[in-house]
Amino acid sequence: MEKLVILGGARLSGEVEISGAKNSAVAILAASIMVKGKCRIENVPHVSDIDVLLDIINGLGGSAAFVEKSTVEVDCTNLNKYEADYETVRRIRASSYLMGALLGRFHRARVGMPGGCDFGVRPIDQHIKGFKILGTEVEVDHGMVDLRADSLIGDNIYLDVVSVGATINIMLAATLAEGITVIESAAKEPHIVDVANFLNCMGANIKGAGTDVIKIKGVPELHGGEFSVIPDQIEAGTFMIAAAATHGDVTITNIIPTHMESLSAKLEEMGVGIEEYDEAIRVYTDGRRLKRTNIKTQPYPGFPTDLQPQMLTLLTIADGTSLVTENVWDNRFKYVDELNRMGAHISVDGRVAAVEGCDHLAGSPVHATDLRAGAALVIAGLMAHGVTEIYNLKYIDRGYEAFEAKLRSIGAQIARRNIEKELHTNAV
Ligand code: EPU
Repeated sequence: MEKLVILGGARLSGEVEISGAKNSAVAILAASIMVKGKCRIENVPHVSDIDVLLDIINGLGGSAAFVEKSTVEVDCTNLNKYEADYETVRRIRASSYLMGALLGRFHRARVGMPGGCDFGVRPIDQHIKGFKILGTEVEVDHGMVDLRADSLIGDNIYLDVVSVGATINIMLAATLAEGITVIESAAKEPHIVDVANFLNCMGANIKGAGTDVIKIKGVPELHGGEFSVIPDQIEAGTFMIAAAATHGDVTITNIIPTHMESLSAKLEEMGVGIEEYDEAIRVYTDGRRLKRTNIKTQPYPGFPTDLQPQMLTLLTIADGTSLVTENVWDNRFKYVDELNRMGAHISVDGRVAAVEGCDHLAGSPVHATDLRAGAALVIAGLMAHGVTEIYNLKYIDRGYEAFEAKLRSIGAQIARRNIEKELHTNAV
């Protein structure tokens, strides 16, 4: 078992480079299942969710591996299975994309109900609604989703809920369907545009990604090619918040500043300095206490739910009381008990958290409850007085590449410790 140990109080400064977007890369890797030919995919973050997906693709009879630090080569020409291993699939949410990809490729898929972080019910009814409209019979038994279609025929699909996963999954299946599929009320997150760009590079015909109406003209097959994944909006946001939280001065590079607008605007409201460049953002403060603000999470271009825990953490030391409303997930405030353990004053009522700003947090042992909550606790540790120990690192490792090494490079006092090894050494 490992833990992160952080000595709080260091002011972050310097330059840090953002990796490729995890949530885009997982969808693109799943999409590569539909390609007959070799795909070279650059700017892929080396995180555990990606490793799981590479294992799944190899298990299905394809070949997929890192060939350079952040470049993956995938060749699914000879992929020959439509059933994905239940235990592996349960480990990541993105395994839901196997449904759309295998259905597109074989008109048949058998995939375990996807896992991922636990913040309330995570239904897939909109994915299934889309597959059914395209002509698929769907059965769910013993935790497996079984999909079969004689043929996939394009149609109009209106999503009742704006869903990233359903939008991508339907886009995947529709890419190799006959005729035209129109997804209305589609999600508009940057990684949806990225997945559409990837598919178009490989021969698909998708228009409108990034708006709420996506039109997909089915093509008979996809060919190999090269693609580079966009920078990770959420990793970038996490570093921007960490810079503000430590009253630092950090330039965050390899990012797309327009993806950061909702966060940049909120940070500026709090008194944080933001300077935008073509592919970088500088975040700095004048050292004065930050002002309170309110946050409401929304699908893109609104404030991202995946930055809610990090932002709430920053608000724990702002001047005054802030309200944070979670509009995307039912139960994404589990981690606040950990922050309260560090001296924060947060009370939660349903989807709203009231955060009463305090002078400072105090270091303490805490447990990550999911990926972004883990990142939030790291930020809490950086700004706290004293030492914070963070457990359950498997969550953080799912989505942040070289997190503590990057933080150390800009001045954080953070280290990873192997608990068994330490106990063994002490006993000898
Ligand atoms: N929803 C339904 N029915 C569906 C699908 C979704 O009701 O069929 C609801 C969900 O319950 C939720 C809302 O719609 O209330 C949004 O869910 P969405 O489908 O957009 O989420 P997702 O695709 O499962 C992705 C990211 C999440 C991120 C959400 C929202 C990946 C692999 N995951 O999840 O990222 O929170 O979009 O932006 O892309 C993370 O990276 O930490 C993470 C959890």
